[in-house]
Amino acid sequence: MSAPESLTIRRPDDWHLHLRDGPILRAVVGYTARQFARAIVMPNLVPPVVATAEIAAYRDRILAALPDGARFTPLMTAYLTDNIDPDDLAQGHADGVITAAKLYPAGATTNSDRGVTDIRKIDAALARMAEIGMPLLVHGEVTHGHVDIFDREAVFIEEVLKPLMDRQPDLKIVLEHITTAEAVAAVEGGGARIAATVTPHHLLINRTDLFRGGVRPHLYCLPIAKRERHRQAVRAFATSGQSRVFLGTDSAPHPIAEKESACGCAGIFSAPSALELYAEAFEEDGVLDRLEAFASLNGPAFYGLPVNQETVTLTRAPLNVDGPITIDADTAILPFRSGETLRWRLS
Ligand code: NCD
Ligand code: ZN
Repeated sequence: MSAPESLTIRRPDDWHLHLRDGPILRAVVGYTARQFARAIVMPNLVPPVVATAEIAAYRDRILAALPDGARFTPLMTAYLTDNIDPDDLAQGHADGVITAAKLYPAGATTNSDRGVTDIRKIDAALARMAEIGMPLLVHGEVTHGHVDIFDREAVFIEEVLKPLMDRQPDLKIVLEHITTAEAVAAVEGGGARIAATVTPHHLLINRTDLFRGGVRPHLYCLPIAKRERHRQAVRAFATSGQSRVFLGTDSAPHPIAEKESACGCAGIFSAPSALELYAEAFEEDGVLDRLEAFASLNGPAFYGLPVNQETVTLTRAPLNVDGPITIDADTAILPFRSGETLRWRLS
């Protein structure tokens, strides 16, 4: 069979996205709105968006920042803290403001200082979420300084996720941006109530790529890329046709100066060519026909939302990934694979 020259799929959604706020929001949101109909927007602003009123105001700023004519719906999330108010969470969900709530273990990643210090402290909120069918989105890494950074996801699964799943059997969970064979096994074996998102970069890079020829700060994100065996396990899962794994870019823009620094921050900005990056991986594995389920069907099914009615078409044509995106005179952001050429292009 000859390779297809184009692929038409239902319009996809991004189930894990950082849009930031202010000038960066205005610079990046159009890239996502061009590709995706909806996105689950992360709440890790400074300060984080915790209460329904703050989340509604953030949603309005996102809508106001959209380019003219964009057709895009931000699906908002609440940032869980030790003191989260279960009533406010439930009300925000009932009012359609909040789609899901996000667990950042305190200190796990960018802007997670106000995250949860001990998951037992939010048992009441989690029980309420289970009752009302509100999904919990999990950054699955422990934060103990003595746990090796490459083991933090696997240790989280044993120490936090599995006990949580036992305590809250009805809670719907998305284990986000998975990076390990252990995460694949936990989701595959966890039944209908748990799903995973996978980023384009975790399909494409392993930890050796972070140090190829020198340190590569633009490939640093959390959870950090793992060894090749784990990349292969995550990729096999994402491209397997299993319905409980779906697209979540974790596109996370940071100014170049904060990435290329003595203490560079975590996050990879992939929004400008996200779908094309996933298409490369699926094509390499000979399963382009499974891209639609991963990108456009599995996420809505898990969240209980309708699939998008529109379609998009990817064409086999060289795509040059843009160079730095200028925010202002002092600030620019470098997209993942900037300066390289991809094989697919969104029409
Ligand atoms: C994210 C960010 O920059 O907000 N960074 C990252 O490395 N993925 C936070 C996150 O999702 O962990
Ligand atoms: Zn993220």
